[in-house]
Amino acid sequence: MGIEFLNNKFHIFNNDISYVIEVSEQNDLLHLHFGASVEANNLFHQKNINTEFTSYSDEENPKYSLSALPQEYPSGGASDFRAPAYQILTKDGCHTPELKFKSYEIINGKPKLEGLPAVYTENDNEAQTLIILTEDINYGLQVKLYYTIINGYNAICRHSEIINNSDSPIHLKNAQSFSLDFPAGNYEYIHLEGAWAREKHIERNAVHKGSQGFESRRGASGHIENPFLLFFEQGATEDYGNAYGISLIYSGNHKFLMEREYNETVRVQAGINPFEFDFKLEHGQTFTTPEVVIAFSENGFSKISHTFHKLYRTHLCRGYWRDKARPILINNWEATYADFTKNDLIKIADAASNLGLELFVLDDGWFGERNDDTTSLGDWFANEKKLNGPLSDLVSEINKRGLKFGLWFEPEMISLKSELYKAHPDWLIKTPYSKEHYGRHQCILDLTKPEVRGYIVNILSNILSNANIEYVKWDMNRNMTDAYSSSLPADRQGEFYHRYILGLYEILETLTQKFPKVLFEGCSGGGGRNDPGMLYYMPQNWTSDDTDATERLFIQYGSSLVYPASTMACHVSAVPNHQIKRSSPLSMRGNVAMSGAFGYELDLSKLSSEEIDEVKNQVEFYKNNRDIIMNGTFYRLLNPFVSRHAAWSYVTEDEKTALVYYIVKQARPTNEAVYLKLKGLNSNYNYEINGTVYSGKTLMNYGYLIEDNEYEGMSFILKLNAVN
Ligand code: GLA
Repeated sequence: MGIEFLNNKFHIFNNDISYVIEVSEQNDLLHLHFGASVEANNLFHQKNINTEFTSYSDEENPKYSLSALPQEYPSGGASDFRAPAYQILTKDGCHTPELKFKSYEIINGKPKLEGLPAVYTENDNEAQTLIILTEDINYGLQVKLYYTIINGYNAICRHSEIINNSDSPIHLKNAQSFSLDFPAGNYEYIHLEGAWAREKHIERNAVHKGSQGFESRRGASGHIENPFLLFFEQGATEDYGNAYGISLIYSGNHKFLMEREYNETVRVQAGINPFEFDFKLEHGQTFTTPEVVIAFSENGFSKISHTFHKLYRTHLCRGYWRDKARPILINNWEATYADFTKNDLIKIADAASNLGLELFVLDDGWFGERNDDTTSLGDWFANEKKLNGPLSDLVSEINKRGLKFGLWFEPEMISLKSELYKAHPDWLIKTPYSKEHYGRHQCILDLTKPEVRGYIVNILSNILSNANIEYVKWDMNRNMTDAYSSSLPADRQGEFYHRYILGLYEILETLTQKFPKVLFEGCSGGGGRNDPGMLYYMPQNWTSDDTDATERLFIQYGSSLVYPASTMACHVSAVPNHQIKRSSPLSMRGNVAMSGAFGYELDLSKLSSEEIDEVKNQVEFYKNNRDIIMNGTFYRLLNPFVSRHAAWSYVTEDEKTALVYYIVKQARPTNEAVYLKLKGLNSNYNYEINGTVYSGKTLMNYGYLIEDNEYEGMSFILKLNAVN
């Protein structure tokens, strides 16, 4: 691993990958390569550009045109007509700066991003960072580009800083985290599209001419498009082809753009959505973009996922719980919804304790006057009538049963029917012109206001300090409308969406530092804000409000492209399933949920004696194997989007143990035999499966024979142990 600057070329590399940037004679930063390892000195930019209808800056040298050359952080409006990486507006209305290389620095380690979540290192020899300073002297504009390579990862972390050195304020209209120009070729991409209760479905498309991409304008990363792009050469598969994973560490409005030009090159960008974005920079001020991680694999998608899983598990998630076994929980939401008595909760806790569970989570409905979703958000004090006494008493009773206690909050919200609204009607987000819009009967607090952030920190701190609460579910149940803050002047309203997210990050940083041993789980109606930004503060996330086992096959498959199993909360719920009324066997519901941070979300006190035995077995199996699930290398074996079956596996780093999951998504009579080809085993090892010994190479090249007569919801988990 290293970074070199030789013959005007920067080379960021390890044994597998190379990222090469040239400083041209004209002092432009030209992108030469990102992909498999190369000799940087042998790379050259195109010298003979077709000059018809191009623009250029030097009459003596019209063949040097930025309109066709690949660039690192392109400016717009001068000689490049493709999408610019950033856009500004000066007080005179000028908007066509041209950045030129000025200087560079190569440092050990990885600098933090001010106020933003980012990949981190724990000591400086783990990583190297290249910082390139570019500027346009006439505009008084400087841009610093950051590139970090971390030992052992085939990925580059990028972000930029935009600095106003001019005497007057400038308006930043667009500030992408990165831009990357791919050479002429045929490309495809996968994105994670969805909806509430149907998150992260994969959709594969060819990259066509013109602009395409996806974005969020919902104030959060959203259910509809996760901030992740898998971009690859045509025909790439799980294990074949050049592929790039692009993951934006940001929880607000995002935009991913692919622009294929007349010459078949493709420009890819990701960053904050320029939609209603306008950030005013005073003289001397710097704007820091969110970080983007770009992973490369020359062997298809699987390796991209491995890079993200390990990087995010160990260099993005933080704190006490990062490496700890996640407790098996019972959540009362689908068991009782908001309509419960203390007695109902105790009955569920008794059953959970008897089954060997480890954490009891009290979901929505414990505070204010909240018996349904129309009231009380913001009134974070326990409803002692409903709980039959103070919250701390309930917590002790739960603890006495050998269970940790966890609590649900939705801190960013306010109900119009609440004490908080009576006291602070001006704290919710609304414009001066129109009545506010609602989502789930609620409004959003204006986190750009310091007094609102202070209120949230104080009121949550009080509750977390006064009872033994060891887990918090942090929910956020609507999209943002009426983006406006009465605390911002007119010419700063375009900062609102981003300042909201900065405010949220500040609150989360404060609370997670203040309560370092509390396990925080993110949630937004399931996966509505399931992004890498949130993982920096909360090491797990409620994957989806859809707990149906079959639906979860799709959602968890899509999630697995980028998010590690340890971050995906998965629960067994009752049948018929509450979201889509399907009934799946308890074994299947357990097997699908035992693919992440595991739990139950049903009334355990109502289980039959056979179900009790089965759940006890599931709990014991998970406890014995959760380390493999949390930390093993994950392989997708059968894709439920195209197959009647789903299969996946986790293999320990020493390749001696594996868990293989097999699920019949849709049974068919007189079914075919399946030779399930395993992955990631050691071809020199022999493995024992249920008393029979197989060689690793047989299991990978021939497969494990499954010839059972199928039935709907049939599933099993195989455990493999190396025996030689
Ligand atoms: C959201 C969450 C659910 C539950 C409810 C409570 O929908 O995703 O898990 O907590 O809120 O209102």
